Amino acid sequence: MSPTPDEFREAVSRFATGITVVTCVVDGVDHAMTANAFASVSINPLLVLVCVERDSRFHDAISATSAWGVSILAADAEPTSRWFATKGRPLEGQLRKSGHHRSPRHGVAWIDGALASLECSTTDVHQAGDHDIVIGEVIELETAVPPTLEPLLYYRRNYRSLRIEGDE
Ligand SMILES: Cc1cc2nc3c(=O)[nH]c(=O)nc-3n(C[C@H](O)[C@H](O)[C@H](O)COP(=O)(O)O)c2cc1C
Repeated sequence: MSPTPDEFREAVSRFATGITVVTCVVDGVDHAMTANAFASVSINPLLVLVCVERDSRFHDAISATSAWGVSILAADAEPTSRWFATKGRPLEGQLRKSGHHRSPRHGVAWIDGALASLECSTTDVHQAGDHDIVIGEVIELETAVPPTLEPLLYYRRNYRSLRIEGDE
């Protein structure tokens, strides 16, 4: 018998990830979504990917523009992650709750206090089951100083933080 979706979810939840908020602007309206299906892909050229569920509102948004942002969240940003993963939150003004600033080229939102933020330009979209794999070239980035800020982690459907040796 093939694995069930629940068995699959349980297995892949054991892959610990960071958390990102992916953003874009369509017709002057900001869109954002929490995503942990993010990965770096290539150094030459600089490419990253994010997997976006085709049923999500963010899928319509990212499909309508080539410019998007990725903010890699710090440990204190759990409320931000929860907010941008909330189904049915109002689209208009959804970024008002989170401090943000604008990326240099296309003005997508970068979340304040993120460990690093990327501005990307879509190069490819691959359909994969119920998600699209959106690949983008990184055209601008910002890296937080100091680099010792802790990341927000996700493991087995719970938020976690990194335990550094010597910590409690
Ligand atoms: C920790 C976490 C990670 C998530 N990662 C993804 C992801 O990588 N891709 C995705 O499409 N949805 C992901 N989601 C679900 C979306 O954040 C959620 O469905 C969101 O409400 C979609 O918003 P929208 O339908 O308003 O666009 C994740 C949710 C959580 C809590």
